[in-house]
Amino acid sequence: MQSGYVLSIDQGTTGTTVLVFDHAGQVRGRAYSEFTQHYPRPGWVEHDAEEIVLVSMKVVADALRAAGIQPDEFAAIGITNQRETVVVWDKATGKPVGRAIVWQDRRTARYCDQLKAEGVEDMVRAKTGLVVDPYFSGTKLKWLLDNTPGLRERATRGEVCFGTIDSWLVYQLTGGNAHVTDYSNASRTLLYNIRELTWDAELLALFDIPAAMLPAVRPSSTVYGETNPQMFFGTRGIPVAGIAGDQQAALFGQACHSPGMAKNTYGTGSFVLMNTGADAVASNERLLTTIAWGVGDEPVQYALEGAIFVTGSAVQWLRDGLGVIGNAAETRELARGVPHNEGVYFVPALVGLGAPHWDPYARGMLIGITRGTGKGHVARAVLESMAYQTRDVIDAMQRDSGITLKELRCDGGASVNSVLMQFQADILGVEVEVPRIVETTALGSAYLAGLAVGFWESKAEIAEKWALDNRYRPRMDADQRERLYRRWHKAVDLAKGWALD
Ligand code: G3P
Repeated sequence: MQSGYVLSIDQGTTGTTVLVFDHAGQVRGRAYSEFTQHYPRPGWVEHDAEEIVLVSMKVVADALRAAGIQPDEFAAIGITNQRETVVVWDKATGKPVGRAIVWQDRRTARYCDQLKAEGVEDMVRAKTGLVVDPYFSGTKLKWLLDNTPGLRERATRGEVCFGTIDSWLVYQLTGGNAHVTDYSNASRTLLYNIRELTWDAELLALFDIPAAMLPAVRPSSTVYGETNPQMFFGTRGIPVAGIAGDQQAALFGQACHSPGMAKNTYGTGSFVLMNTGADAVASNERLLTTIAWGVGDEPVQYALEGAIFVTGSAVQWLRDGLGVIGNAAETRELARGVPHNEGVYFVPALVGLGAPHWDPYARGMLIGITRGTGKGHVARAVLESMAYQTRDVIDAMQRDSGITLKELRCDGGASVNSVLMQFQADILGVEVEVPRIVETTALGSAYLAGLAVGFWESKAEIAEKWALDNRYRPRMDADQRERLYRRWHKAVDLAKGWALD
């Protein structure tokens, strides 16, 4: 048995989770902290990239304490991250030039309309596998370059760096020695050709992005550099050896290593990914074609993705925005208290709608309220909306891939909610499997890092560690399922385009 541990930093949209794994793939220590969300205008979402580093380092220290181990016991570090969020920083000082623009931010919606009107969407889609939507990094980076005086000139002179959160953290951890990203994160920028595996000159010209500011794109499992002792607990350099976007990392951590296997992660949003192997399957259903990972020199693997923008963050909104619950777990008891939704539906289009609708102008909606509606109905409607949105993308995925899912592996915070998981199985008519470790995002990035340094030998060894905790079998009859689902669609149609007026 290998001695030592792998550290995984999962830098998510609402918080950073750090886990310490041993060779058996068991969690030996964990810590989590939320950080500040900035909403300077309706539809805008920003993060302070320096706060992200400070919070992440504090969480690493907390996790080490919880595990009772020393920093020099790590064989490798893996980074996984909220994807698409844009950071630009000064190469000389390592300081961000402004706030990071978060993936949820809709400020480039009009520019995306303009791009569509110019007829470039097919070209963009063929090269990147993505749709033209403010979600992705490219239009956000263009916005920063257009709206920060002198920034484009500085970028052209190679004085500033662009990166998604993975690049930013690795740059900081290595003391500025590595300006890198991995295939999976690059594939979310709208600037990367996912078939040719290059930053695409035509796309860089379209968005007027200087190539000098871009990170080097590397495999998801390889040594990028070593931690700088000044940054990382004064210890010897530890290899930073795994990078993957959080959703791709979760697919890896769920051991969905073969084509046709799929997972759903319930986090801030929910993201359903299906492994399609070495084939970049083009979607006819407005799903995304994306790079899953590249392990060392092996050919990159692709996935089809249904990106659902708001699931867990709707529960956070119930807690922080409305104050109707004290913590997320209360939703389960509240929802249990009402046997049925009684016609109450919630459309969580709080930042527009992602796949398969792609409507940045949709807004959230609660409908079907009567005088008898209480907190329980609202909590149930919020939970059910996660399951309906998942069905929307799974249906599209099955049509696209021609594969009928036998089961869906689920993970992330809300996968411990048995009311939600049962309803998910019911509304899909497919079995839902929840593994013993539901923090599969962190697990996946640990596996990628450990593979690169020989801590683990192979994907097969990793797949053997996957262990089932709960299986939910569909219990609802087909008539009821389709009746509920039809009504969901009626509600979604009403929410579309709301912010246009
Ligand atoms: O694409 C956005 C996604 O990476 C965010 O994930 O876990 O922060 O909701 P999460």
